Amino acid sequence: MTKSVAPLDTPTPLVITLGNLKGGVGKTTSAFFLASYFASVHEVRVLVIDADPLSQTGYSWHRRLVKGDVAVPFELIAFPSRHVDDCITDNASDFDVIIVDAGGESADIFKAAILQSHELILPTSVSPSEVKRVPSTFKAAEEAAAGRDCEIRVRVLMTKVPVTMKNGVNISTEYRTQRRFLEDAGYDVFESYLSSWKWYREAADGEVGDGAENPIEDLAEYRQVGDELVSPYRIDMEVSA
Ligand SMILES: Nc1ncnc2c1ncn2[C@@H]1O[C@H](COP(=O)(O)OP(=O)(O)O)[C@@H](O)[C@H]1O
Ligand SMILES: [Mg+2]
Repeated sequence: MTKSVAPLDTPTPLVITLGNLKGGVGKTTSAFFLASYFASVHEVRVLVIDADPLSQTGYSWHRRLVKGDVAVPFELIAFPSRHVDDCITDNASDFDVIIVDAGGESADIFKAAILQSHELILPTSVSPSEVKRVPSTFKAAEEAAAGRDCEIRVRVLMTKVPVTMKNGVNISTEYRTQRRFLEDAGYDVFESYLSSWKWYREAADGEVGDGAENPIEDLAEYRQVGDELVSPYRIDMEVSA
């Protein structure tokens, strides 16, 4: 079998935290699709830790998939505790990628996850009130990262983006304004983004089982996000000019 993807040189396990001290921004959705991305595209062992103390959306979603006889390509543990760093350590030898859905509201859990993470993804929708929350989440992340001895890469991921295409470019004013705001403020923003699509909502909230498709099988835009996420780890033959 030929693999279409270049091999990756990542730490083992690669630990990715999805966090934002704000709910409803697409953390859980992103955790699931990115877990599927790693499992299906890179064929590695993936664990999702649902560390959201308020709503165990990830746990319920995973359970629904498993009960619906859907072949879920990753495992999930619910561990909504500020000892989530221990949970990561304890599972480190069994997985290649660990994705922590750090939930909202709990700065303690978020900070504990950061202690063990290589990558922090801050998902935010383009709504101005949510984008305004990015700096406080970033600051909490910086405080937590100060206790680490190695670097953590922090990137903002734009979700629920309105799309108005013209000549292959998304000219939505809200999207462009908020991206510019984030970039001008110095944040590293993923080039790829998640459109506001019913598709993603249905994946998380929809029924599974008889007659239903397996929604996370189609990675949609998360394929690009995943590729961008792992691009620093690619063992590249090509040297860019
Ligand atoms: N790109 C998107 N487009 C449309 N709806 C989305 C998108 N991403 C997530 N959703 C929906 O928004 C809601 C919140 O997403 P969720 O991933 O649960 O956020 P969080 O974990 O940050 O609370 C869910 O109903 C989800 O299905
Ligand atoms: Mg969630």
